[in-house]
Amino acid sequence: MTTPATSVAPKGLEGVVAANTRLSDVRGETGELIYAGYNINELAGKVSYEEVVHLLHHGHLPNQQELARLKARLACERDLPQGVIEIIQRLPKDTPPMHAIRTGVSALGCFDPECDDDSQDAQRHKAMRLIASIPIITAYFHCHRNNRPLLAPDPTLGEAANFLYLIDGEKPSAEKESTMDMCYVLHADHGMNASTFSARVTIATLSDMYSAITTAIGTLKGPLHGGANEGVIKMLKEIGTLDKVDAYVAECIAQKKKIMGIGHRVYKTLDPRAPHLKRMAQILSAQLGDPTWIQMSERIAEIMLKEKHLNANVDFYSATVYYSIGIPTDLFTPVFAIARTAGWTAHVLEQLADNRLIRPQSVYTGPLGLKVVPISQRP
Ligand SMILES: CC(C)(COP(=O)(O)OP(=O)(O)OC[C@H]1O[C@@H](n2cnc3c(N)ncnc32)[C@H](O)[C@@H]1OP(=O)(O)O)[C@@H](O)C(=O)NCCC(=O)NCCS
Repeated sequence: MTTPATSVAPKGLEGVVAANTRLSDVRGETGELIYAGYNINELAGKVSYEEVVHLLHHGHLPNQQELARLKARLACERDLPQGVIEIIQRLPKDTPPMHAIRTGVSALGCFDPECDDDSQDAQRHKAMRLIASIPIITAYFHCHRNNRPLLAPDPTLGEAANFLYLIDGEKPSAEKESTMDMCYVLHADHGMNASTFSARVTIATLSDMYSAITTAIGTLKGPLHGGANEGVIKMLKEIGTLDKVDAYVAECIAQKKKIMGIGHRVYKTLDPRAPHLKRMAQILSAQLGDPTWIQMSERIAEIMLKEKHLNANVDFYSATVYYSIGIPTDLFTPVFAIARTAGWTAHVLEQLADNRLIRPQSVYTGPLGLKVVPISQRP
């Protein structure tokens, strides 16, 4: 007989360890992020997003042939089924992009004959298909809402460049491409974050990979997770100028209102992704000749560290980076989703390799022993 649960894990499952993983490690006390043995500071600027995809999916960085094979595979998985394109084109143009992507991924599963094929080969194909397709779904929805033609993906371009090409209608400069690629690398995986956990819960029921990634996208969308980067730009626009920062932050602290892009559940010191993004934001702002936003951001981060001992997280400076390279604000979280698909799919495969249903319990706090009153006599 199962006895009723009487004690509950910390709120938000803080500190609860839910799985073993070889994919990535978030070391909160020291502010380190490891991808399959490599510190993020070692990877950033030295490897491409595709190399990280290979690292997460095969456990080692690729040699030249392996990288060429992976790139070719991703390039040939970019053609969306016509039915998915039609669904994207029927969405209301004011659909928030994260809703559109969640719908597009769910639809993709309906058009994939391998959707419910649980052989290892089919699961690997689906992982690559999702990594390659989510940028196309995003870009096609963006073009549809702007009444622009849907360009064919360019197989000569890497993941970051092809996405920029599809949303801008022209090939990106080498600098814009490398900025985007670095953002992808920094966002590719992050331990047992909320969206990854939700993907693992879904696949642990032996559901399909499209369902798991749809779940993850829905989870990432929230402002406490991936949605924070959009919130940062909204906040910077609301504040407007550097001289108004101090009063704005003081007001937020007094009202106990959260500043987006600040704080982290696991990192008790610096989020190691933030300095890379900060450096990129500084360079891009200098190039644009407009330091306003980076100056405002630095001042907000300085006050929050001093007053609340909270550091900037990945979303804080990525917002300025994306804005500076012309990514529309409501595509910031989709860009996060595009990059994180590498990690989500790798976690799904890892969960399947050693699966057990994830099924926690709850402590019942409601009443007991109530008797049914006939409906006509209920108050
Ligand atoms: C990331 C986050 C959800 C972590 O949440 P958490 O571990 O549950 O921490 P809590 O929300 O319980 O916050 C703990 C304390 O820090 C404060 N705090 C945390 N983040 C804060 C923020 N961004 N702005 C102001 N105060 C913040 C809380 O008000 C709380 O203070 P209190 O103890 O005086 O009440 C949280 O820091 C947050 O909401 N940040 C903003 C959203 C964001 O940037 N998300 C992206 C994460 S990568």
